[in-house]
Amino acid sequence: MAKRIIKDNVLQEKFNELERKNQEALLGGGEKRIEQQHAKGKLTARERVNLLMDEGSFEELGKFVMHRSKDFGLDKEYYLGDGVITGYGTVNGRLVYIFSQDFTVFGGSLSETHAEKIVKIMDLAMQNGAPLIGLNDSGGARIQEGVVSLGGYADIFYRNTLASGVIPQISAIMGPCAGGAVYSPAITDFIFMVENTSFMFVTGPNVVKTVTHENVTAEELGGATTHSTKSGVTHFACANEVECINQIKKILSFMPQNCEDDTPRLPYTAGDERRPALNNIIPANPNQPYDMREVISGVVDNDSFFEVHKNFAENIVVGFARLAGRSIGVVGNQPASLAGVLDIDSSVKGARFVRFCDCFNIPLLVFEDVPGFLPGTDQEWNAIITNGAKLLFAFSEATVPRVTVITRKAYGGAYDVMNSKHIGADLNYAWPTAEIAVMGAKGAAEIIFKKEISEADNPEAKLNEKVDEYTHKFANPYRAAHRGYIDEVIYPDQTREKLIRAFAMLENKVAKLPKKKHGNIPL
Ligand code: HXC
Repeated sequence: MAKRIIKDNVLQEKFNELERKNQEALLGGGEKRIEQQHAKGKLTARERVNLLMDEGSFEELGKFVMHRSKDFGLDKEYYLGDGVITGYGTVNGRLVYIFSQDFTVFGGSLSETHAEKIVKIMDLAMQNGAPLIGLNDSGGARIQEGVVSLGGYADIFYRNTLASGVIPQISAIMGPCAGGAVYSPAITDFIFMVENTSFMFVTGPNVVKTVTHENVTAEELGGATTHSTKSGVTHFACANEVECINQIKKILSFMPQNCEDDTPRLPYTAGDERRPALNNIIPANPNQPYDMREVISGVVDNDSFFEVHKNFAENIVVGFARLAGRSIGVVGNQPASLAGVLDIDSSVKGARFVRFCDCFNIPLLVFEDVPGFLPGTDQEWNAIITNGAKLLFAFSEATVPRVTVITRKAYGGAYDVMNSKHIGADLNYAWPTAEIAVMGAKGAAEIIFKKEISEADNPEAKLNEKVDEYTHKFANPYRAAHRGYIDEVIYPDQTREKLIRAFAMLENKVAKLPKKKHGNIPL
């Protein structure tokens, strides 16, 4: 802090008092607790803010706020800031609002005043149209305060909900996040967790043991690995806090500031539009897998693909990328996992991503290779009908520019769902390897030629003949192209060039939904 020389002693003392208070606030819960925080492999709330924000850009608000509690000895224990650092600043030159919970003060627990500070920042973020970032590290409701603290949580949840779709909201979990506290991150757009030092659960291991008699550690129950692979609650599991902060910076670079802002655009010089490597990705045998990420990376600007929800529902790939410098959202079926089939988890994962992109004017690019929906009692009894409908609804409702490229299979209802022309896609391309039909040739032949096959002298030969006939007729892109369902059948190496032109053509798209309060997505 710059030293100020004041000639008048009275004035000097006033300045000194401010300096002392500023120094006190910087220490949060004190040096001992900061050491304990570091010993756990965690940064302090302030260190996190400084890492995230552009150097010198952070403006703190409410630094001297203190709690108002008198019960359980709290009238003798005060800390400036009351366990949360709040303010605004820039990340890569763009305005963001932030709160960062300070575990060194009452375990980062949320009091009435702690909540008021967060609410103030949320209101400013909404009013001024810039992203909100919440760094969570908290023991939950300040137990000494009772219902006042619960009210504070609800004030935050309410604002998270109102802000949804207005400004991007990002949560990072960098320590405990338990009980009702989990619902603020859950409403936000993206959650980041740090491996081994963060956890999220509604009820902890002790309650679980009492109620269900299960023995489970906090890490198993709600650690970053669990939530990034099993539940899908978190979109990112980061190896450490520095990686987590860097990933937050990266995801912000793809987003507009608010729902009325344009998507960010980086300078771009044309030059590598033809991508010959794309011609050799699809295997000759249609039953052989390949990695859809190769297709995505082969089409978008070099090294620009930023995958979201990477380890959850791997049969669908979603993420941000740049095409000719402009942010796009990419959704692709993944033949390398469960043959790219759509199931409950992949439908929900895809739907949530599509809705984020649509909220924030980010155009959607879809790569399709889908053999259909996953059959089975597990899927049916857990409502693949309702959950599959989420993806259908999300695409149908999206008014951003939408383009599809069918690389191989587009079968059954999944053809309709995956951003088909019929549900409002603007342009649909297919590669020559595309197969667009009601179902796979073998299954189709077995049903429609059942009698002929069973009565044949050689049923197997008859089946093969009918499979060939069906394949010839339908396992190609041309029937759909004859109908205009496909706008053009293109060589894979042309894809990038076609897409750059397509999205440029669609840049001023205006599409309106019928007047309504809001739709009723099948939740
Ligand atoms: C007040 C709290 C606190 C809380 C922790 N502390 N949680 N103070 N209210 N909720 C204090 C501790 O007393 C301690 O103070 C300091 O923070 C650090 O806590 P430790 O227990 O020493 O740390 P650690 O061993 O790392 O354990 C962290 C923890 C544990 C797992 C979070 O503290 C814990 O279980 N806390 C209670 C969690 C909880 O039940 N919260 C209420 C959930 S209900 P000193 O002075 O010793 O440093 C809820 C409802 C929200 O949140 C509903 C919204 C709808």
